[in-house]
Amino acid sequence: MKKYIKPIYVLVILILTSCSEDDYSDVSVDDDQAISTIDYPDLSLPATPFNYANINLPDSFLNNDVQNEDNTPNNNPITDNGATLGRVLFYDKKLSLNNTISCASCHIQENGFSDPNQFSLGFEGGLTGRNSMGLSNARFYENGRFFWDERAATLEDQTLMPIQDLVEMGMTLEELETKLAQEGYYTILFENAFGDESITSERIAFAISQFIRSMVSFESKFDEGLDQAQNSNNNFPNFTASENRGKQLFMSNQTRCFDCHATVAFVGDNARNIGLDVVISDPGIGGITNNNNDLGEFKVPSLRNIGLTAP
Ligand code: HEC
Ligand code: HEC
Repeated sequence: MKKYIKPIYVLVILILTSCSEDDYSDVSVDDDQAISTIDYPDLSLPATPFNYANINLPDSFLNNDVQNEDNTPNNNPITDNGATLGRVLFYDKKLSLNNTISCASCHIQENGFSDPNQFSLGFEGGLTGRNSMGLSNARFYENGRFFWDERAATLEDQTLMPIQDLVEMGMTLEELETKLAQEGYYTILFENAFGDESITSERIAFAISQFIRSMVSFESKFDEGLDQAQNSNNNFPNFTASENRGKQLFMSNQTRCFDCHATVAFVGDNARNIGLDVVISDPGIGGITNNNNDLGEFKVPSLRNIGLTAP
């Protein structure tokens, strides 16, 4: 018999590096219909949900280049109550078989929602095969696929995979639905998010995906510089000479970094080969498609928050 440890909820209030409090100040959410969850003190949720749905993005994110990268599907737009449920699920260790691991154990907020260790520890102490990916700006990736080898076709598909992974969380979806239905707060959160209290794995996937897509990072030093200089080719007044040289190099034909890490989201549109197929320590996409041409191809991650997502 496994020993079940009673979980202690630590619900970190989501403060994205980039979101100032102002983003939440002018929220007018009609939550007359919302049922109160603040009766569950260990969840420490705000009386009115945070503004996840209408994040005030800067102009540089609103141009077509970035908007075309947005992988939000029509059937799962972000709502404040949906993302609130997603946030509770994301931090809940009950999503693992022995109540020891939550999504947040491997996707740590202060590390740009990644893990500073090369590999992460799963629910029974096993190690993941790859580095946990940072989740900020996951919303912006044009082909909409997820994981280093892009084996998940959508974020909605991806979010149920770690739960069922035998190293990471070790649950079946049936077990999960039954387990969550035993928690009174989920009855309320599902009703607020989806209109009735039925708990299905599809709703779990939708809610977590909404929460992840709300993790957008902006208002960085780069964004401030762009705002002042208006054009990314101009020198930024808030950059040192060395930083401006780095920026020019990054966007130059000598390095071509900007071909792959493109737009102000600094993200790819598709997997690319960066030469790892020469050593084959990891087959990348080729391991999924069994096509030799795909060996060594990997998802091109956003470079935002790169200072937080070592190694
Ligand atoms: C034990 C550690 C661990 C846990 C627990 C875990 N993850 Fe991950 N996550 C990883 C690793 C490792 C990868 C990269 C795996 C790969 O590409 O093969 C990853 C990748 C991802 C990605 C892909 C990001 C991208 O840009 O493609 C998303 C999204 C994600 N995880 C969300 C979640 C969610 C949601 C949960 C909880 C339901 C969760 N993870 C639980 C370790 C973990
Ligand atoms: C041909 C496309 C391509 C080009 C050009 C390219 N990259 Fe990348 N980059 C990738 C891919 C794919 C990955 C993910 C695979 C990996 O981390 O090994 C990556 C990963 C990274 C990472 C690590 C990201 C993380 O979250 O761990 C950094 C930093 C980076 N690139 C910076 C650069 C810089 C700087 C340049 C220019 C000198 C550059 N890249 C040029 C495709 C590219």
